Amino acid sequence: MPRRMLIAGNWKMHGLRADLGFFDSLAAPAARSNAEVLICPPATLLAAAAERCAGTDILLGGQDCHTNATGAHTGDVSAPMLKDAGARYVILGHSERRSDHAESSELVCAKADAALAAGLTPIICVGETLEQREAGEAFDVVGAQLSASLPAGAGTEFVIAYEPVWAIGTGLTASAEDVARMHAFIRTRLSKPASTRVIYGGSVKPGNAAELMALDDVDGALVGGASLDIDAFAAIIATAG
Ligand code: 13P
Repeated sequence: MPRRMLIAGNWKMHGLRADLGFFDSLAAPAARSNAEVLICPPATLLAAAAERCAGTDILLGGQDCHTNATGAHTGDVSAPMLKDAGARYVILGHSERRSDHAESSELVCAKADAALAAGLTPIICVGETLEQREAGEAFDVVGAQLSASLPAGAGTEFVIAYEPVWAIGTGLTASAEDVARMHAFIRTRLSKPASTRVIYGGSVKPGNAAELMALDDVDGALVGGASLDIDAFAAIIATAG
């Protein structure tokens, strides 16, 4: 079965209730697309966004979750809470969480197990820094992140997002050749290579999305800044067919 494209918007720490009209504007582009269309707003907006998206093709996700379902963890949000608020997916191990919160791949793996137990599909992020790429270590770094971050259970479904850290929010995109090579490498490391989606993130914009989405091993995009702009995000969705 061909892998269905996934175009995901990561709103990061952006979005107030005043921005919920975005979902009304996204409904038609999402309905026209063959791709799955996902927005991961801040947790504060999930429940309201879910109400707004009822009856549309727009899916929702969280941006992180705790390893436990409940407990004394002030400020954290659990996977069952995200699910309860309307999420279907959760982004895990984003480089901003790995750097801002010192998240290890082992922690990301435990979070992925928690997400799966709650019925969420994890989107597990990997990617090298500029120093690592310039030192020729990109494949070793991503390989090590995959070995330690991926949930092991048979039959688990997850998405990998390759996001080179140096391409995030910088306007720099990895070349199509570099993306193709890394995605092909990632696929060799998967236990279910034919069915697992590997999406690309890092300064995806309407101007570069078509070239990237056309690559064989690229199954969609994880879009940051451009997912806050309905025209830009709709244009990116359109490149996924
Ligand atoms: P930008 O698209 O803003 O570079 O962000 C990418 C990203 O981090 C998505 O998770």
